[in-house]
Amino acid sequence: MTEHGALNFSLLANFVHQVINPLNGVTGTLDNLIDGTIAEEHRRQQRLKAARAQLEHCIMLVRNLAYFSQISLDSGNTNPGKIQKTCIIPQIIIEAAMYFQEMAANRQIEIDLMDRATQYRVQGNPDLLRQVFMNMFDNAVKYSAHGSKILIEPWIQRSTGTLIVKITSVGAPILPNEREDVFQLGFRGAAAKARVASGTGLGLYICKTIIQEVHGGEIAVESSSQTGITSFLIRFPTWEV
Ligand SMILES: Nc1ncnc2c1ncn2[C@@H]1O[C@H](COP(=O)(O)OP(=O)(O)OP(=O)(O)O)[C@@H](O)[C@H]1O
Ligand SMILES: [Mg+2]
Repeated sequence: MTEHGALNFSLLANFVHQVINPLNGVTGTLDNLIDGTIAEEHRRQQRLKAARAQLEHCIMLVRNLAYFSQISLDSGNTNPGKIQKTCIIPQIIIEAAMYFQEMAANRQIEIDLMDRATQYRVQGNPDLLRQVFMNMFDNAVKYSAHGSKILIEPWIQRSTGTLIVKITSVGAPILPNEREDVFQLGFRGAAAKARVASGTGLGLYICKTIIQEVHGGEIAVESSSQTGITSFLIRFPTWEV
């Protein structure tokens, strides 16, 4: 398979995977409403709002899929998704985090964006960037400890002049011999497999592809076996405020 073919295959598989989970959530909510399991009105309202957010998420993903299939039909285009729009980083992070509020609250996990005020901007594809952060939060919530905190810190690194967004969570660490592999297509860590049986090892591969190929950036991981602290660092070479 060519690199381009592999890119399209992995994106398609990722879309399917990410669309099925929220649709299952909506089906579960509808089942509960039909059989009267959710008795109180305010809980019904909450579940309906959550179901609506899940459907919105699916619509967003299917739009992306349509966009990608269109672009890959365009034979001259070797870089699907590379549109240049202004992406407001804190806004995209907050939108992505909203999808995981309920899942995080169930595990008493807090998602905290350190600097909401500075409107860091990059040129790129906002839908795909949102997807990067959604994959980040999906992992952070799934693999971190009950009652822990997920921190998101954007800042400008003086030495390189680049914008860095750091996402930190605490839980089972990524082992030293696994760190090279986490961005590979299909790779899942031993602790992750033991903790969450389902998963295809696509999330970080997709993040890396979108950051590198669509935004000219880099993504790296640091993980401490002593403290269980894992950080993903996303670097954007050009930015503005
Ligand atoms: N925040 C995190 N804390 C600890 N380990 C992590 C974290 N994020 C990713 N990992 C490790 O990196 C591996 C690869 O992550 P990736 O998102 O690509 O796949 P996955 O989450 O296992 O599956 P999928 O994303 O397809 O559901 C995980 O299996 C896990 O071992
Ligand atoms: Mg994942």
